[in-house]
Amino acid sequence: MESGYFTEESSADVVIARNSNAKDARLSQVIAVLVRHLHAAVKEIEPTTEEWLTAVKFLTDTGHTCTDWRQEFILLSDVLGVSMLVDAINNRRPNGASESTVLGPFHIADAPELPMGADICLDAKGEPMLVRGRILDTAGNPIASAKIDVWQANDEGFYDVQQKGIQPDFNLRGVFRTGPDGCYWFRGVKPKYYPIPDDGPVGKLLGALGRHPYRPAHLHYMIDAPGFQSLVTHIFDPDDPYITSDAVFGVKASLMAKFNWTTADKTIAEAGFSSPFHLVEHDFVLAPA
Ligand code: BEZ
Ligand code: FE
Repeated sequence: MESGYFTEESSADVVIARNSNAKDARLSQVIAVLVRHLHAAVKEIEPTTEEWLTAVKFLTDTGHTCTDWRQEFILLSDVLGVSMLVDAINNRRPNGASESTVLGPFHIADAPELPMGADICLDAKGEPMLVRGRILDTAGNPIASAKIDVWQANDEGFYDVQQKGIQPDFNLRGVFRTGPDGCYWFRGVKPKYYPIPDDGPVGKLLGALGRHPYRPAHLHYMIDAPGFQSLVTHIFDPDDPYITSDAVFGVKASLMAKFNWTTADKTIAEAGFSSPFHLVEHDFVLAPA
């Protein structure tokens, strides 16, 4: 343990030693690791005082941008890949189980429960879409009574909560429950890519880094079933222009689902549509609890 005065060489050891009476062992470990990496970063960067103050101002602005409905620090974590890393560490699943990805800020807890097959698009705007698949266990058996909470952006790339008074409340959201066959299906509209909120310090940072703020078109899912791990994930349009450059690193190869433009009269009629639609098919495999 370092007990001397602070020097450039001993900086991290001196600070870590000062915390030796910490009451919480986990806190002590976390701060020690952070101090060690932070001091190493500062030693590598050798910031000027002005640069250090710029960093302080950036964090101050990030805090000031946070409100009850906007979390700029999570957005910062998202664009630095930290949210996806935390998600990966906390969602290591057995082979064959569906992969998770970020929750994002647009989930709401009280979306309406709807009959299977319902249309979650309440304003008839956009190209019609039918999404269907099964909820399975890792042995391939259907899972009954799975709760499937879905939400998506509209054909202009906005969630209902971003356009209050423009989109109806609960537009493009719904909760469905599987029957004994584990099947799910619902109607919506083809979602569009959209920018993460980029009018704050994180958006400015992206611009300065030469990065765009877009997320490729996707559908969000939160799937829960008794005896299984909860799954928070998306499915993505593999043909989206931003599929290889998601601003928040949420895309995984296993989460692609083609949006198949379906024009055959027979299929249109069988699906209950009166005109061509996008057919999206994706099964989800839940890991045991
Ligand atoms: C989303 O997909 O809803 C999202 C995820 C991370 C940041 C912003 C939006
Ligand atoms: Fe989203």
